Amino acid sequence: MMPSAVPASERSIADAADALSQGRLVALPTETVYGLGADGLSAQAVARIFAAKGRPSDHPLILHVGSVAEAKKLAAHWPPSADRLADAFWPGPMTLILKRTGCVPDAVTGGQDTVGVRVPGHPVALALLHAFSKVGSGVIAAPSANRFGGVSPTRAADVVLGLGDFLQAGDMVLDGGDCAVGVESTIVDLSGDHPRILRPGGLSRDTIERVLSGDLSQADTLSMRSDATVPRVSGSLESHYAPRARVTLVLPEQMGAMASQLLTQHPECRIGLMPFEYQALERQIIDQRLVIHSMPDQAKAYAQKLYAVMNDLDRLGIDTLLIARPPQTVEWEAVLDRLGRAAASVDDSTSMGK
Ligand code: TXA
Ligand code: MG
Repeated sequence: MMPSAVPASERSIADAADALSQGRLVALPTETVYGLGADGLSAQAVARIFAAKGRPSDHPLILHVGSVAEAKKLAAHWPPSADRLADAFWPGPMTLILKRTGCVPDAVTGGQDTVGVRVPGHPVALALLHAFSKVGSGVIAAPSANRFGGVSPTRAADVVLGLGDFLQAGDMVLDGGDCAVGVESTIVDLSGDHPRILRPGGLSRDTIERVLSGDLSQADTLSMRSDATVPRVSGSLESHYAPRARVTLVLPEQMGAMASQLLTQHPECRIGLMPFEYQALERQIIDQRLVIHSMPDQAKAYAQKLYAVMNDLDRLGIDTLLIARPPQTVEWEAVLDRLGRAAASVDDSTSMGK
């Protein structure tokens, strides 16, 4: 069944809360990306998320709640660092990993003794959480609303196109406009001796460090390292956040020459280019097999556009995507992480199709 997205309104939000309380799926806007929501305290409802996403059942989900007080109910231990971070950044693009209480189903955590919790910053998400706390648990489990391994959606239309076939009658997609942040939340693990960042995201590492004032695990500070060694964070599998196209990161100044070369060597190939706006590529190479999406040179604006552009290019059937590599600085960390995973997702064979 291909549902259509419903504009968020007081009425549709109330309907969505009812749907959640009946064990149905509701895709909802958050400030980071769209989430595929279900009642987070119902094992059956949560099982439907895994089925619709095609996600392995041992990959844990984030629980979304409307307030710090509700987050505390899900945690067996709430360290002082959690208070500092929650006060500073919730509602907002940060997820905390904490020891869980018994009310959290195993299905949510993949059987682990920790749980990921977040108070999202989007007004529609908060209104839905509020409405759902009146008619149900008020806890929404929500991974990004894409099929497992694919590009996260930042627009309601991307949710419908990517997941529509996997939703059932009574499920809903709430449209709350384009996501403002555009990459997923930063995940901070507070379940160990020292806070650790498991996934860079919408809130930058230095911003978090400032609030933790030196408490962040040393191995983790500003090192721009890949988190591939951390288990159980499905976003840390290299194949994540990947469009179907074969992705190559290139130096901005080499993009024009590489594109020309590809066009000559692979006549069948459709090529996508994501240069920076300041690159005047359009005037260098013009070819109908080429699709160009120029990207902002500011990290926040770039992140906001990234998944939307990748989803658009995927739909156009691009075979190869050349992306101008952003600078290796801390404000670009989340974008570099996602670009690195997108580029790592295909083998290095010389074949152009995929
Ligand atoms: O911005 C976001 O975080 C979005 C929106 C919808 O809130 N959600 C999101 O969910 O990105 P998902 O499922 O696509 O990614 C959640 C990540 C996964 O990599 C998962 O493994 C990790 O959080 N995670 C969840 N619970 C965890 C836990 N207890 N320990 C370690 N990692 C956990
Ligand atoms: Mg995801």
